Amino acid sequence: MRKKSKFFKYFREYEWSNILAMIRNGRSDPKICREDFPDKLVVITGATSGIGYHTARKYASHGAGLLCVNRNPEKSEALRREIETEFGVRCDFRTADLSLVGDIRRVAEEISRLDSPIDVLIHNAGIYLTKKALTADGLEKVFVVQYLSSFMMNRILTEKLKAQKKPGSSSSDPKPIDSRPGG
Ligand SMILES: NC(=O)c1ccc[n+]([C@@H]2O[C@H](COP(=O)([O-])OP(=O)(O)OC[C@H]3O[C@@H](n4cnc5c(N)ncnc54)[C@H](OP(=O)(O)O)[C@@H]3O)[C@@H](O)[C@H]2O)c1
Repeated sequence: MRKKSKFFKYFREYEWSNILAMIRNGRSDPKICREDFPDKLVVITGATSGIGYHTARKYASHGAGLLCVNRNPEKSEALRREIETEFGVRCDFRTADLSLVGDIRRVAEEISRLDSPIDVLIHNAGIYLTKKALTADGLEKVFVVQYLSSFMMNRILTEKLKAQKKPGSSSSDPKPIDSRPGG
């Protein structure tokens, strides 16, 4: 398909209401969160760089404890030291390559066995590739990191998150957050 006809094909698929909402959002001031999160646990994937790194720091600066799911142990250790020293909160990590189904399952199962409730779950890890790449499992890589990993983690954590909502539990309404397009 030629570039021009592709553009019109996708353009026609956009909803005007979404385009208008996007323009409105782009023009409005960002909402600033002034809440504090002492004794709260934030689980975040891909906290070693970019948006995940700054999000992790932001939550830590508001008193939250962190559990980061990262692929690089050295960067994770450096992040742990930085956050614990600067903000005086706990910053644990688990290492997992979220492009591998076995790693996704293992790390999600580890997290599901945590004693402490999860207050915020952020699926941030993501990649952008311009060429198709397959994982060792033979799956398309962007699909696995961007979508399948969040889906599997949510599935595996569902029981734990639901149990937290029972009366008497310390955490009220945990919501998975997906910062990525389509999430
Ligand atoms: N930046 C943008 O303009 C933009 C726009 C729309 C959506 N997003 C989405 O927002 C999210 C963050 O973007 P970003 O710009 O902050 O990206 P980034 O700087 O490249 O950071 C991505 C994070 O994900 C981790 N990661 C990548 N592949 C992984 C894997 N297989 N297993 C575990 N962790 C993995 C990276 O780890 P390493 O540190 O080890 O590389 C890093 O911590 C992504 O999901 C992206 O698609 C970004």
